[in-house]
Amino acid sequence: MDRTITIGFLGCGNVGGGVWKLLSGFADDIAHRTGLRFSIKRVLVRSLAKRRDIDFPDGVLTDRAEDVLDDPEISIVLEFLGGEEPAHRWITMALERGKTVVTANKVAFALHWHELQKAAKQSGAGLYYEAAVCGAIPIIHTLEESLQANRISYIYGIVNGTTNYILTRMSREGAEYADVLADAQRLGLAEPDPASDVEGLDAAYKLSILASLAFHGRVPFENVYVEGITQVQAEDIRCGQELGYTLKLLAIAKRDGLHVETRVHPTFIRNDHPLANISGAFNAVFLHGHACGEMMFMGRGAGDLPTASAIVSDLVRAASAQKHLYPTFDNELHPAVSLQNNTDWRCAFYTRMLAKDEPGVLSRIAQTFADHGVSIAAMQQKGEQRDGRVTVVFITHQASERDMQKAILEIRPEVATVESLLRVE
Ligand code: HSE
Repeated sequence: MDRTITIGFLGCGNVGGGVWKLLSGFADDIAHRTGLRFSIKRVLVRSLAKRRDIDFPDGVLTDRAEDVLDDPEISIVLEFLGGEEPAHRWITMALERGKTVVTANKVAFALHWHELQKAAKQSGAGLYYEAAVCGAIPIIHTLEESLQANRISYIYGIVNGTTNYILTRMSREGAEYADVLADAQRLGLAEPDPASDVEGLDAAYKLSILASLAFHGRVPFENVYVEGITQVQAEDIRCGQELGYTLKLLAIAKRDGLHVETRVHPTFIRNDHPLANISGAFNAVFLHGHACGEMMFMGRGAGDLPTASAIVSDLVRAASAQKHLYPTFDNELHPAVSLQNNTDWRCAFYTRMLAKDEPGVLSRIAQTFADHGVSIAAMQQKGEQRDGRVTVVFITHQASERDMQKAILEIRPEVATVESLLRVE
């Protein structure tokens, strides 16, 4: 005999619609596998008048959050509103009422995880968030459970599909950022307001969640260094390609003892790195654990059914749990032993300059680098002289971020102008 669980939705846009469709079309399979059936009692929407492609039974849609939050029959709430508020408030209310929450909301989760977890623990409710990071890729469950026997030393992620799509097209077509973005928006592949994606914030929310789980300590969103792709120039992608590199917006987290660095920025990686082949809107996470070694997970990070795949799996896990589990690290605003935020990381750098084409110029640039302990690994002078200047591209050996920034500031305009500075991993 199947057990029926009554659930409610907060929001029903693209992702909520995907969950509705997956739960309807796949219900018999889920029941066959788990003995569970899900009855969707109430679905909160912004406008009851809006035309929808789902034929909701009478009485299901509501525009009052209380109809979901205060209904004692609803034991699991699925949240698809996105954004910080009112999602954060309503998730908290649901948890305080003892309702388990399944959410796809990385913003509310990354910013308020410690409070949400406290509310869940107090009422014994479950809090499930697989869909908040990398859509269909089961990376949360993997970090929470499957990789428990590992000390994870680093994560490199392509965790934002929009920016990976834009960079892929810039690389293939030699096109400029603004042109590809406009085209992606026309095709519906980038949001009309793409700021959170292209400025790297979406990736930073996801990275703070991944790093906290991987390093078993709170890594606040505010500690993540963020630089998006809005300043990326086609010329740098081209110069990098000639040197054997691919440009990606990487979410990077590294741990050395209690020191953690978390950063999101455009990054050159060697063409033979597994992440270099993750193209278009796909996501991937590449990590290293001391026991498992290197691993990579790739898949669809967005879209209705891929995201629904993670949500419905969480739903089944939540409904089957005898007791809900929570991450075991000290998930507090001010943990007793905090991880230290390292903002002076070491990596290699790529820089493109327009240098005066006359004797001694290269040696003056090299001397400035040397003064700051930055060592040059490769240099290329490119193209014809224009107005007495030529393009020179340097790749450095690993150097400290601070030293490199200081060196760049000291290069005098009469010697060379620095056109771009990118990190290399
Ligand atoms: N906007 C995100 C992306 C998907 O482009 O990957 C949702 O997290």
